[in-house]
Amino acid sequence: MSQLAGKLGIVFGVANKRSIAWAIAQAWHKAGARLAFTYQGERLKDNVEELAGTFGADTLILPCDVTKDEDIASVFKLVGEKFGKLHLLLHSVAFAPKDALEGRFVNTSREAFRVSHDISAYSLVALARAAEPLMTEGGSIVAMSYYGAEKVVPHYNVMGVAKAALEASTRYLAYDLGPKKIRVNCISAGPVNTLAARGISGFSEMLKHYEAHAPLKRNVVPEELGATGTFLASDGAAAITGQVLYVDCGYQIMGM
Ligand SMILES: NC(=O)c1ccc[n+]([C@@H]2O[C@H](COP(=O)([O-])OP(=O)(O)OC[C@H]3O[C@@H](n4cnc5c(N)ncnc54)[C@H](O)[C@@H]3O)[C@@H](O)[C@H]2O)c1
Repeated sequence: MSQLAGKLGIVFGVANKRSIAWAIAQAWHKAGARLAFTYQGERLKDNVEELAGTFGADTLILPCDVTKDEDIASVFKLVGEKFGKLHLLLHSVAFAPKDALEGRFVNTSREAFRVSHDISAYSLVALARAAEPLMTEGGSIVAMSYYGAEKVVPHYNVMGVAKAALEASTRYLAYDLGPKKIRVNCISAGPVNTLAARGISGFSEMLKHYEAHAPLKRNVVPEELGATGTFLASDGAAAITGQVLYVDCGYQIMGM
């Protein structure tokens, strides 16, 4: 059975074929969902058109810089015109200036802190607010987080603080939107080799560390994030909201 047959969704955060957003979008599509996509700017337009275009020539693909309220408004207006309603939203968007992802957290500038939180955490609130009027039959909003939200991961720095804000926002949004049967959850993924991950100083060491220390003795693969994303989007997760699900080969349970 197609778990997501008849569901309409929108995906934020595809940059290329390695993007976690693309893994989850493929899984949602395979499960029967019809999807719209956004891309951050002209630089990524061709990539996203090439990937999302494989789902059909009429796939809605729109520009959206999540720091711009007018972009968000225009995306949801056009999605409303095309779909009439919405069931699924994937938030797979994060950014911190490169120099904030190396060295000491104590040196984080006011501007780096502001930008990281705006793009990586506030955007979930803005997107959820814009999606709410279209989620008339209830919905599932999924955001991507990382363990650096709760424990110190060297070099993750301000992004860990932004992920903590993202996870707390997930809980407050789950409370606000629950009466409308809109669920909001985070997937906390183990490290995956993507464009954003390569911006974190010492990222390849992280992959090796997880392989050595996670109970499953390996790193998560994108298809597994797709499978969890599909579960959270499906009716199987109908009573799950405000949660952070760890898809990290068990790393989060370890104390040493
Ligand atoms: N790769 C990992 O190891 C890992 C682990 C846990 C969580 N995550 C999270 O997964 C999510 C996706 O990251 P990824 O690893 O797939 O990397 P990615 O580089 O493929 O995706 C990041 C996306 O954020 C988008 N983005 C950045 N600034 C934006 C803006 N102003 N407006 C709109 N979009 C913007 C980029 O265009 C890109 O599509 C992020 O939230 C990331 O923190 C990644």
